[in-house]
Amino acid sequence: MNWQNKVMKMLDAQSIPQLPGAIRLADYAPPDWLVPEVSLDFRLSAGSTRVTSRLVVRRNGNHDRPLVLDGQNLKTSFAMLDGEPIDVVPVGERLEIAIVGDAAIVEFEVEISPALNTRLMGLYESEGRLVTQCEAEGFRAITWFPDRPDVLSVYTVRIEGDAALYPVLLSNGDRGAVETGLAGGRHAVTWTDPWPKPCYLFALVAGDLSALRDGFTTMSGRQVELAIWTSAADVPRCAHAMAALKASMAWDEAIYGREYDLGAFNIVAVNDFNAGAMENKGLNIFNSKYILADPETATDSDFDGVAGVVAHEYFHNWTGNRVTCRDWFQLSLKEGLTVFRDQQFSADQGSAAVRRIEDVRGLRAVQFPEDAGPLAHSIRPDHYVEIANFYTATIYNKGAEVIRMLHTLVGAAGFRAGTDLYFERHDGQAVTCEDWVAAMEAATGSDLGQFRRWYEQAGTPRVAVHERREAGKVIVELVQSQSPTPGQAVKLPVHMPFRMALIGRDSGRRIGEERVVEMREAVTRVEFDAVDEPVLLSLNRGFSAPVIIEAEASRTELAFLAGHDDDPSARWEAMQRLALSVLATDDDPAALVSAVAATLMDGTAGKLDAAFVGEAMLLPTESFIGDQAAMVDVEGIHRRREAARLAIATGLEAEWWAALRTYSGSGTALTPAAKGARRLANVALAYLVGAGSAEALAAARIQYETAATMTDRMGALSALVGTDTPERDACLADFHARFAGNNDVIDKWFTVQALSGRPDTLARVEALARHPDFSITNPNRLRSLVGAFAANQRWFHAADGAGYRLLGDQLLAVDRINPQSAARLAVPLGRWRRFDAARGALMRAQLERVTATPRVSRDVLEMASRALV
Ligand code: PHE
Ligand code: ZN
Repeated sequence: MNWQNKVMKMLDAQSIPQLPGAIRLADYAPPDWLVPEVSLDFRLSAGSTRVTSRLVVRRNGNHDRPLVLDGQNLKTSFAMLDGEPIDVVPVGERLEIAIVGDAAIVEFEVEISPALNTRLMGLYESEGRLVTQCEAEGFRAITWFPDRPDVLSVYTVRIEGDAALYPVLLSNGDRGAVETGLAGGRHAVTWTDPWPKPCYLFALVAGDLSALRDGFTTMSGRQVELAIWTSAADVPRCAHAMAALKASMAWDEAIYGREYDLGAFNIVAVNDFNAGAMENKGLNIFNSKYILADPETATDSDFDGVAGVVAHEYFHNWTGNRVTCRDWFQLSLKEGLTVFRDQQFSADQGSAAVRRIEDVRGLRAVQFPEDAGPLAHSIRPDHYVEIANFYTATIYNKGAEVIRMLHTLVGAAGFRAGTDLYFERHDGQAVTCEDWVAAMEAATGSDLGQFRRWYEQAGTPRVAVHERREAGKVIVELVQSQSPTPGQAVKLPVHMPFRMALIGRDSGRRIGEERVVEMREAVTRVEFDAVDEPVLLSLNRGFSAPVIIEAEASRTELAFLAGHDDDPSARWEAMQRLALSVLATDDDPAALVSAVAATLMDGTAGKLDAAFVGEAMLLPTESFIGDQAAMVDVEGIHRRREAARLAIATGLEAEWWAALRTYSGSGTALTPAAKGARRLANVALAYLVGAGSAEALAAARIQYETAATMTDRMGALSALVGTDTPERDACLADFHARFAGNNDVIDKWFTVQALSGRPDTLARVEALARHPDFSITNPNRLRSLVGAFAANQRWFHAADGAGYRLLGDQLLAVDRINPQSAARLAVPLGRWRRFDAARGALMRAQLERVTATPRVSRDVLEMASRALV
């Protein structure tokens, strides 16, 4: 029985999601053979590249097992052991070579075809350039190798190619010998990377590229040459990324004492890329979306995305590269920690409060639903079928929340002592999450025994809050609980920091100091000294623990906290809770309208900064509202949210006009104040257009036409796209013509239409999927249309199932081309339990259609079958 049939049988049996062929953490064994040194020689051509490799291998420990190598789609032309040709007979994607002594030299020549590589893993072609992507298991598509992160090697890489097609030849480390004038118009460059690294950090780029160059002097006075490579025309659009890179290098020195360790740091931007970016040692490769930015083409949030991802990849140089993962179950060791570091960096660069709110919003929009559904897994999973499916919001964002809790528990100084010890102990090693926690524990003397449960347990804990008065004292009981997740029935209480304070119900001020309560038991009792004023609780301030709070509060109390809580996250949360409470019913939204008005006034009066106000004015999304109930009422949520939007729009029309006047015209500056003003002005414009006056439509049209920034142009276009007006059609057409050929901007054009609230959205998306600019092979473009549409709760979940069918069609079409892209599209269908029986059946039908399709990829089969359970 083949693997697919086994999966089908398992589904019939309704057993727990332990798929056949799963790899288990419990089965980990150290590598039998190490590879201290590797030399690679690439003779490049898009159709057929020849890779010769020379591996110095050394027996690891006392055993007589063979050397095991991984390889995928390799045409092997020869193999040699200690200089003698050997016959190699791969079994599937593995090759075993018996070796007598304790060390040997193994050599291969293989042929690979970058031009035919549509999976974008290994060596592939993107717009005439050749680039690699090796994490997690792409190196095996380049040559035979023990493709696992605990085998660390020093690399020497010679790249030879046509000098006209590939004038620039890059690899990791520092550049060595250059050979010019080789036969056939070819040239070659040799790179050496002195730092031992796992093969997933190997990289090569060849192409006609130009660089934005700069330099950085490290804390010990070493000069580093910086270069960001792209097409000549895009070089000026790399300035923001370069500034972010230099700021990141300085920040990692100042905050973590970490210095860069090579003479050069190169970044390359490419258009076809499965993920956001990749931290290859000394040669980061980026999705161009996270490098190219100027005011004309990038929104404020794009600018922030560029800076955040540049920082993230740079920070991996220590958290990921110098200290790497022992196995892929430890992925969050590098990703959770590095996301936490990039969040800290971004908070330091701009408005920390707003940044925290954005992070929380993202976590709750993506990770909480993942943790509540069939794909729930802990930040250190214990089995997987296809590791590419585990680059999830849980590993990254919940992983970062777990690190943040550690930071809160041990304090900034303790945390720094912990990271210092971690680097001291483990530099040059491939380690585990346990090693990380142990270093934190040893450096701070804290007991993190129970804290380790965060690494094992999936699911989002709930904290119920009960409050009472005893002799004037405020007694709060915090009760933590957690529902079972697939394959994990029993949940134990976790150790977490819970920041709280009291807010006076009369004064509106904080009473006494904030407390950081360390919750450990199922029930934690907190006592505040007697106060003579009625009080309200300010809970989980700064979102100190990634939990769901269950606390009783009236709308009046929530409105009061939304106006007075002195913690920005908690204040924002009060507004969210108030909005959720109103949007869950058909009640008059008056309470919400007046809370919005009060916050808006605090902004105009200068009591709150514009960025915060803009954030607070945004209603929870339809999907977030849906996540709060056991069953998503697709039409009801849409109807009630639209009604509330209209009430806020019409009830405060004069205020919105005033806000638009006050906050627009902030130019192109990227200061927190200017960004905040743009955000708030665009929120105002969206409400005004929603109210539907001719003046508002005209204002949107003028803003669209005269915008100095993409933020403002996009703000106007998004406001118009939901309307049925000539302005909408004119602006959409203009946008497409104006930005023809600019991939990142044309992606926005697809997305804004896919997210529209108009009833013809599905038909539009179907038409856009046939548009000449649509491309299923480009991950960004696929995401911009199909990925975005799946987030449009009202129209993706159209009752007749047409949205699901569209997704199923696209998923199966792209699976033949790029399984990683395809597998991601299965995720939205996994939410079927949360919808009514009719929709649930239609969603399942698409998942079943996928699992029943012959020769579907392992990536997709794993996701679809887990989603069905
Ligand atoms: N390791 C990359 C990062 O988070 C992400 C990535 C994973 C890129 C897999 C490509 C492939 O920085
Ligand atoms: Zn990362």
